[in-house]
Amino acid sequence: MCGIIGIVSNKSVSASIIGALKKLEYRGYDSAGISTISNGQINEQKCTGRVDNLEKILFQNPSNGDLGIGHVRWATHGMPNQINAHPHSSEVVSVVHNGIIENSDKLRKEFEKKGYSFKSQTDTEVITVMLTDFLKKENLINCIHKTLEKLEGSFALGVIFKDFNNLVVGARRGSPLAVGYGHNENFIGSDSYALKSMTNKISYLDDGDFCILYKEKVEFYNSDKQKINKEIFELSNEDNIADKGDYKDFMSKEINEQSATTKKCINEYLDKTRNEINIYNLPIDPKKINKIRLIACGTAYHSCLMSKYWIEEFTSIDVEADIASEFRYRKVKLNPNDLYIFVSQSGETADTYAALEKCKKNKVKTCGIVNVVESSIARSADFVLPIHAGPEIGVASTKAFIGQMIVLYLLTLKIAKERNDVSVEEYTKLVLDLKKIPNLIEETLNKQKNIQVIARDFINAKGTMYLGRGYSYPIAMEGALKLKELSYIHAEGYAAGEMKHGPLALIEDGMPVVVLAPKDRFFEKTISNMQEVIARGGKVLMITDDTSETTNENIRFKFQIPKTNSTINSFLLTIPLQFLAYHVALLKNCDIDKPRNLAKSVTVE
Ligand code: AGP
Repeated sequence: MCGIIGIVSNKSVSASIIGALKKLEYRGYDSAGISTISNGQINEQKCTGRVDNLEKILFQNPSNGDLGIGHVRWATHGMPNQINAHPHSSEVVSVVHNGIIENSDKLRKEFEKKGYSFKSQTDTEVITVMLTDFLKKENLINCIHKTLEKLEGSFALGVIFKDFNNLVVGARRGSPLAVGYGHNENFIGSDSYALKSMTNKISYLDDGDFCILYKEKVEFYNSDKQKINKEIFELSNEDNIADKGDYKDFMSKEINEQSATTKKCINEYLDKTRNEINIYNLPIDPKKINKIRLIACGTAYHSCLMSKYWIEEFTSIDVEADIASEFRYRKVKLNPNDLYIFVSQSGETADTYAALEKCKKNKVKTCGIVNVVESSIARSADFVLPIHAGPEIGVASTKAFIGQMIVLYLLTLKIAKERNDVSVEEYTKLVLDLKKIPNLIEETLNKQKNIQVIARDFINAKGTMYLGRGYSYPIAMEGALKLKELSYIHAEGYAAGEMKHGPLALIEDGMPVVVLAPKDRFFEKTISNMQEVIARGGKVLMITDDTSETTNENIRFKFQIPKTNSTINSFLLTIPLQFLAYHVALLKNCDIDKPRNLAKSVTVE
């Protein structure tokens, strides 16, 4: 949520700031802005909408200066308009902020009493005012420190000062901030992805840290104003590949990559010569795990729900899946013999990170399943399992979901084997089946055209339901989430057996309903639930691996997935649902990669 960039260099920085903001746009896209210091003054320019609009403004009215900050916004306090867009500047200081200042109302009143007035409705402007006030009587370090001390909530900040025209300040509490090192220039950015085109050498601020960037050096301080050193990480070249290629948008690229990304992920974890999963040194001996708790948000939570079914199926361990924003505040009884698994594509989701920190404070054992290996969750968890999906840019998560499920499935099988919950023969068979997933995904991806036709039925729908039982239920929930976030059509994922307890009342003539009915042990029951829907006028899209003709009666569309072992057909059921959401959104002219009101990395509560 919100993207920050800051650069100090020996050359003009505005073009590089715009370039980095375009990369950060996935974090927020309701307004954009930039501030530089030129001719001894703060030059602030901002606009509503996308970075392209800001670029046009700068084209008419160039922003010179060899240091500056930029921002893309996802509104929290105040409408997404030009005044509320960042940066927020006074005569002497300009600030960009990601996060939420929870005591901003109180601070605003305090400084209004001192005679300061505010231009915007944002929580951020109090930071500008406080820095301006402290600068009158404090040196730079004390001014930053005293301002940060007064802030409650979460933030990553980028700040420039009129009277310190050789430096940029960055600070972090709760929201991520990376520092990049260049030749005669240095950078701050909300993530390493934004900095990758400028450098592959990165450090990360920890909570409470702040830094001062000069073009030839970077100084780091902790929350006690003590100078500290930071480890420098070298980013791999591989992760630089983040363009659309020949695809219309990132989402279609990312959906179509899923055969390749699952193959890569499986290869990373499977022993080349034996049918063995190379996951060792878990923070608890698998034989001694009392319970597994899976914690995440959104799509990542759905992968946890999926994994709950697998863990119950293959192991003797008790398991629960939790939504991070609930888990972090509940009085959960944390137990040192339980394993706490946090799943997050970005590794920066505020609620998931806070839930992890709660576990760390209570000294229980944690494992992070992430895509971004340099992320806060990856750095904080006791043990990390990357999903190796490569950068995911589309706000709607697709290949990361499949990647999370692959890693959770691998982990489940490994734990089951270590505990002797499955026999060696069964384990080997499951691993062999798992190896087939990339090809089966490829086969399913090739059927995209069939879904294009079906999508027309959904574009005028008031609402829709996605139904599934057993392994298909979490996938139904994920399918519904994809449709609502991309096409803004109300969609509910429901356990098919629950329909008669209320939601069946929603079914009316012509309502499109997606039924996931693989030929597993629930098949007959799901078919009965489907008939109940059809009897009330529902237009059913059935997704199944069943080839018999008998089920065809009264079904509007049938989408055939390849036959496979029933515990892994969830991977294949996911693909048509991604395509469906994509094509409905395309027909409705929705912004595929940047759906309204959303952002990729949710770093606020
Ligand atoms: C998925 O399509 C969503 N955009 C969203 O639910 C996402 O999965 C959620 O915000 C969690 O993000 P994370 O995986 O980066 O933690």
